[in-house]
Amino acid sequence: MLPASVTVDPAFVVGPVRRRTFGSFVEHLGRCVYSGIHDPEHPSADADGFRGDVIELTRELGVSTVRYPGGNFVSGYRWEDAIGPVEQRPSRLDLAWHSTEPNLVGVDEFMRWAAKAGVEPMMAVNLGTRGVAEALDLLEYCNVPGGTEWSDRRRANGAAEPYRVKMWCLGNEMDGPWQIGHKTAEEYGRLAAETARAMRMIDPNLELVVCGSSSSAMPTFGDWERVVLAETYEHVDHISAHAYYWEQDGDLASFLASAVDMDHFIESVAATADAVRAAGKHDKRIHISFDEWNVWYQQRAESKPPSGDDWPVAPVLLEDRYDVADAVVVGNLLISLLRHTDRVHAASLAQLVNVIAPIMTEPGGRIWKQTIFHPFALTSKHAQGEVLRLAVDSPLVDTVRFGAVPALDAVATHDAETGDVVILATNRSVTDDVALDVDLRGFPGLQLVEALTLSNPDLRWSATADDDSSVAPRANTTAKVADDRAHAELPPVSWSILRLGRA
Ligand code: AHR
Repeated sequence: MLPASVTVDPAFVVGPVRRRTFGSFVEHLGRCVYSGIHDPEHPSADADGFRGDVIELTRELGVSTVRYPGGNFVSGYRWEDAIGPVEQRPSRLDLAWHSTEPNLVGVDEFMRWAAKAGVEPMMAVNLGTRGVAEALDLLEYCNVPGGTEWSDRRRANGAAEPYRVKMWCLGNEMDGPWQIGHKTAEEYGRLAAETARAMRMIDPNLELVVCGSSSSAMPTFGDWERVVLAETYEHVDHISAHAYYWEQDGDLASFLASAVDMDHFIESVAATADAVRAAGKHDKRIHISFDEWNVWYQQRAESKPPSGDDWPVAPVLLEDRYDVADAVVVGNLLISLLRHTDRVHAASLAQLVNVIAPIMTEPGGRIWKQTIFHPFALTSKHAQGEVLRLAVDSPLVDTVRFGAVPALDAVATHDAETGDVVILATNRSVTDDVALDVDLRGFPGLQLVEALTLSNPDLRWSATADDDSSVAPRANTTAKVADDRAHAELPPVSWSILRLGRA
């Protein structure tokens, strides 16, 4: 048993819990759209062909924003293909995923889906094969009330009211050599600045996200942010960050410590943005939109797009089956995002359905929750109010990739209105329980409302359509609160939530 202590104090406020931290992502990739959110043959489908059961689980997951339509897909996308009468829409080659895009779902359908799912749409424009003009056309189509070519086309297509999309991504992963229309930081920075400047001429209140790095391992990481922000600083609000983690070569200890990399990523980008701020004598601060993050086993066969003459519609792609260890890592990555709520103002779990996703569907059939669904849904539901920085004293565990890291990683939230305190904690030890001791003297009189832990002796357990509940988090019966101290035993490789409140 590893003893770890934590002090929670109402004065240690990092910033508000931002709903946009709990965003997700729908890309035209594999079965995310077709037979994911959209499946007209499904018994629960509505008049638009959207699966009601997917909408229900999206709501249960507690998703706030949804980024659309990509991803790598957006860098070759012609959004105008997918408006107007469906039977007149062309099919196109999607070069990013070597698939055929039938354009049955486009911007109007997505906006209707977003309204039904109760999520805020976050759009991306194509800065790979296209540029300023096409971004302006799409913005006009979405946000201008009427009286112009594109806004009247939207009205004619059934949307009398503008969609008023607030958040816009200026391209996707333009630092990646795999990106269609990949650019150097200088080339991209100029294009992004000019696109942003022109978009703001239509609506100065947009929130614009410029592309940061596709991972902290990119050779250009750091310098990319510096150059791109030097070009765009006054024109944008956020810089993106993308990160995917997976267990490499059976190195479970390093995998469990993935949040160490996310912490480093966020802190490095914030420092770089602040350096550009100082050098450019700017007043405002740039925030981070961590708009792709998850566990993704990129080396597995199912992550390989089709090839040759095979250009299928909605192939099975990137359908990772998540296990218990993956869910613990996802819970820990959310802890990292919350801990940095002063700089991370939005985030998107990539993706929502079927493609590296918390929700899985059978075409026309059943739906189920992957293991990673649970920490996301519980955190989104219960993390309310303000994020508190904790004083944590934890034994260390050794990892190959990150050296010695604390076994316990935790964050807390405090809702000043209800008085509720929530502690989110991960035990990253592969072998030992953590005996957690929490000093709550800053919150006298709190009682335990609920303690749940996600763990399983079989770390490889993953959900199926037949059983998606065997590793749903269970009551942690070791959790107790007395005399302004909380105690709980956290099993190895586990994620827990402790909810405390007044009787
Ligand atoms: O989410 C899957 C892919 O990962 C996205 O299309 C791309 O942006 C990233 O490389």
